[in-house]
This record gives sequence, C-alpha cells and structure tokens, in this order.
Amino acid sequence: MSGADAKGAGAELPAKKPAESQVETRELILPNDTNTHGNVLGGKVLHGMDIVCAMTAMRHCRRPVVTAAMDHVEFHHAIPEGHFMTMKASVNTTGRTSMEIGVKVLGEHPMTGEVRHTSSAYLTFVALDEKGKPAPVPPIDPQTDAQRRRFEQGRERTKERRARRKSGE
Ligand SMILES: CC(C)(COP(=O)(O)OP(=O)(O)OC[C@H]1O[C@@H](n2cnc3c(N)ncnc32)[C@H](O)[C@@H]1OP(=O)(O)O)[C@@H](O)C(=O)NCCC(=O)NCCS
Repeated sequence: MSGADAKGAGAELPAKKPAESQVETRELILPNDTNTHGNVLGGKVLHGMDIVCAMTAMRHCRRPVVTAAMDHVEFHHAIPEGHFMTMKASVNTTGRTSMEIGVKVLGEHPMTGEVRHTSSAYLTFVALDEKGKPAPVPPIDPQTDAQRRRFEQGRERTKERRARRKSGE
C-alpha cells in the first residue's frame, strides 16, 4: 500500500508499518490462572487480550490509550494448566484517533508442540492527548497481502461499529 493510500484523518502524522508495533506474549498456564475444569479462565484470556492490544496500540501511537470496545469473542478450545498460551496482536486499521487491533490466541502442548488457535478478537483503542481527549494517531501502512486484507476488513468493521453506535444498538 502506498503512503497516499494509507492516509486517514490522522494523515498529518507519518504512516507506520504493522511490524513496528506488533506484540507477542507467551506464558505458562499455572493453577492460579485456571477454572474448576483445570483450563485457563476466560477472564484471564480477556485480560491478556486487553493488555497485549493496549501495548500494540501504544507502540503504534506512542501515547496513552483507552479501550473503547472489544468485539465478540469465542473460545474454540480450552488451554489446560501446564500448557503455553501465546497472544499475537497487531494494528489492523486506524481512524483519526482510534485503532483497531486484532489479537489471536494460541494454545501449545508443552510436550508435543501441537499448536491450536483457541480464540481471536478485535479491540478498538483511542489515543489520548495531555488533557485526556482523543488525539490523532499515525495512519497504518500495511505491507503484506495478509496485512492489506486485515486493513480492508478492519475498515468495514469500523464502519459497522460506527453505524451501530449511531443507531443506538
Ligand atoms: C473512548 C472514548 C475516549 C471516546 O471519547 P469520545 O469523546 O466519545 O470521542 P469521539 O466521539 O471523538 O471518538 C473518538 C474516537 O473513538 C471512536 N469511538 C468512540 N466510541 C467508540 C466505541 N464505543 N467503539 C469503537 N470506537 C469508538 C470514534 O469512532 C472515534 O474514532 P476516530 O477518531 O478514529 O474516528 C470515551 O468514550 C472513553 O473515555 N470511554 C471510556 C474508556 C474506558 O474507560 N475504557 C476502559 C478502561 S481503559
């Protein structure tokens, strides 16, 4: 994508590439992180998603951010105690002051190395200025086919979110 195509309402700031802000975390699931079935607690996963996406958003805009929205989340598979949980987050698309961050969660069996995609989500973060008001963010400049696809799909989801808010849904 060219710099011109990447321009959004935050276009006065230089565009940044998704690779500049991507964050990946990995942790061992311990007894304190689990539910009564011995699998990772859903709330622990949601908390992790919020944190890894907030770090990604801050790395993109280099400002404080707040979570404005977290879209629909499904848990496709459990991650048992003793397994590894990986979270990969990157900026999909940007508006004037908001950023849609996509996060993918993977569970890894520590002995076999088998990796399963367990859940995904889209979170919207808003950058804040010194007065705590929404501040412009750099546009995102997707580089790969996968990043361009996420950019286009993120734009559509952002439009739909706006329309839902307008209609008071
Ligand atoms: C998110 C928040 C800063 C938006 O403030 P606001 O005064 O409504 O600002 P605006 O209407 O100018 O919207 C600013 C941006 O946020 C986006 N936005 C606002 N509400 C949103 C929502 N519910 N979902 C997704 N995006 C949202 C707008 O589309 C706009 O994006 P753009 O500049 O890229 O076009 C404000 O609602 C807030 O502080 N909410 C509480 C956040 C919070 O406490 N989070 C949990 C802890 S971090």
